[in-house]
Amino acid sequence: MLQTFHYVLKGTCTMLYDQVIEAAAAIRASSNLRPTLALILGSGLGDLANELEQAVAIAYADIPHFVHSTVASHAGRLLLGWLENMPVVVMQGRFHLYEGYAPHVVTLPVRVMRMLGAEVLLVTNAAGGVNPAYCPGDFMLIRDHIYMPGLAGLSPLVGQDDVRLGERFPSLTLAYEPQLRAAARVVAAGQNVTLHEGVYTMVGGSNFETSAELKYLRVIGTDAVGMSTALEVIVARQVGMRVLGISLITNSATGSETGEVSHTSVVEAAKAVRTAFSALIRGIVREIANRSSEP
Ligand code: HPA
Repeated sequence: MLQTFHYVLKGTCTMLYDQVIEAAAAIRASSNLRPTLALILGSGLGDLANELEQAVAIAYADIPHFVHSTVASHAGRLLLGWLENMPVVVMQGRFHLYEGYAPHVVTLPVRVMRMLGAEVLLVTNAAGGVNPAYCPGDFMLIRDHIYMPGLAGLSPLVGQDDVRLGERFPSLTLAYEPQLRAAARVVAAGQNVTLHEGVYTMVGGSNFETSAELKYLRVIGTDAVGMSTALEVIVARQVGMRVLGISLITNSATGSETGEVSHTSVVEAAKAVRTAFSALIRGIVREIANRSSEP
């Protein structure tokens, strides 16, 4: 069984670079915009994509090698356009391990967005607040992550032997760039928004965690828990992108809750703060643009 798994991934990964090239070429045929920043919008947070100027939207179904987003709250479109005078590429909805896709399939769009020109990845998600000080509606800057599936062998880099994909053994210390985090803090302070800073743990899903699991996650250093992001960040670092991650805390996940969490309640909580989220992300994009134009 292990042997089969090895060969399947290896066979697919030798073609991965060609897939990236083909997907990027198809996107360039629809838009010649060269984005400098890539934005991934998480569950219930996709509305921001509608604020792009001069936007061109491409359905994932029309991009070779992109799979389908099977989650109702994820629109499944890639957009190229302008946000705060910055050329951006936006994923309105992402792919997840729990949809049954392999890690290198889930993360293909990150490689494609880099190939299109993006140097910075701003990644967002909806997450449960494992830290008892976090409240629904708060934001958290991701300082570091724990990628639980990766610790068990499900890294998006498994099976690689193609140098064109990047360093096979990338370092992930400081994966979330301190300068970008500092920029985000300045923006949040100016907007009077609660922005915690902590560790995001990615679990496989799609079930939510048991109380015992949440207590365990807290013990190992988790502040927020979700089902995405960490594997995208691993690939972003492999391809040399600068990374900033923002979680929206949609529910309390300390293991002591009396009520039940559901996907619907998570999406509704995210939609309830869509205005504040949009202002924060736009402010951060503006700040990044200003800083990168400084001599
Ligand atoms: N657990 C996992 N993923 C999540 C949660 C949660 O509590 N909330 C939003 N995404």
